[in-house]
Amino acid sequence: MFPSKTLTLLVFSALTLTITSFHKTVAIGGDGGGGNTNNIYSPCSDTRIQRSDGFTFGIAFSSRPSFFLNQTVLLSPCDRRLSLAAMNSQFSLFRPKIDEISLLSINTSAFFPDNYGGYMVAFAGRKYAARSIPAFIANSTFIVTSFTLVMEFQKGRLQNLYWKRDGCASCKGNQNFVCLNKQDCAIRTPSCKGRGGSVDCSLGIQLAFSGTDKHLAVLNSWYEVENLKQYSLYGLYSNLKSSLTNQFNNFF
Ligand SMILES: *[C@@H]1O[C@H](CO)[C@@H](O)[C@H](O)[C@H]1NC(C)=O
Ligand SMILES: *[C@@H]1O[C@H](CO)[C@@H](O)[C@H](O)[C@H]1NC(C)=O
Ligand SMILES: *[C@@H]1O[C@H](CO)[C@@H](O)[C@H](O)[C@H]1NC(C)=O
Repeated sequence: MFPSKTLTLLVFSALTLTITSFHKTVAIGGDGGGGNTNNIYSPCSDTRIQRSDGFTFGIAFSSRPSFFLNQTVLLSPCDRRLSLAAMNSQFSLFRPKIDEISLLSINTSAFFPDNYGGYMVAFAGRKYAARSIPAFIANSTFIVTSFTLVMEFQKGRLQNLYWKRDGCASCKGNQNFVCLNKQDCAIRTPSCKGRGGSVDCSLGIQLAFSGTDKHLAVLNSWYEVENLKQYSLYGLYSNLKSSLTNQFNNFF
């Protein structure tokens, strides 16, 4: 059954930040409820976490090629060689609480990802930089609105960030969705609000943690997410429910 953990809903609009201003930005969210011992608030610094800490990471929105150096080497958006700040990119910062399943929401009513290249990369760290592969979000034809991001720690150090896909299992047979590349459930962009349609195409990113913290305590939230259908968390967030779920009642 569903874990009895507190669920944190962090809602941030996409911020226009340059890489340098990251260091001045204080992200909020994961320090609530006490127990935080992690005083690193920049997504471009290294830290080691324990359970109950807040952990800051970023998501960069840009075109796919802009995340690569010389079109071949995938770098962290913190790496100045990418010069993402000079490009048409946007950044969001999040600070979820370690080992709590969280749903991040990015409201697309004023921020259309396809205007910024249509791809996103999750990242954190400097010397121990981790970054996800670029995930397709949107172009003028399709938008993917639901993602699961797994953050893997070893001894409290972030090792890996990856997108967990379900091979479209969660939208199979639903005519509102198109399965892209046999991995992502997508909505047609023209059916989104502000794009000629009526669907709220805000992005939802489910977070899960795996591995161990600095005291070698095992992070469990990944196992819980694994047992959930990709979309099932949405029903638990009442303020998202009205906008995200009601539009596809028979789906959720
Ligand atoms: C990128 O390309 C430039 C110019 O072609 C070259 O000087 C540089 O060594 C390359 N860098 C990497 C990391 O491949
Ligand atoms: C996004 O913002 C719009 C306008 O403020 C609001 O009407 C809508 O409910 C928001 N969507 C979500 C999912 O929070
Ligand atoms: C949008 O992306 C989808 C999936 O990658 C692709 O099939 C389609 O051709 C793209 N459309 C445009 C207008 O680029």
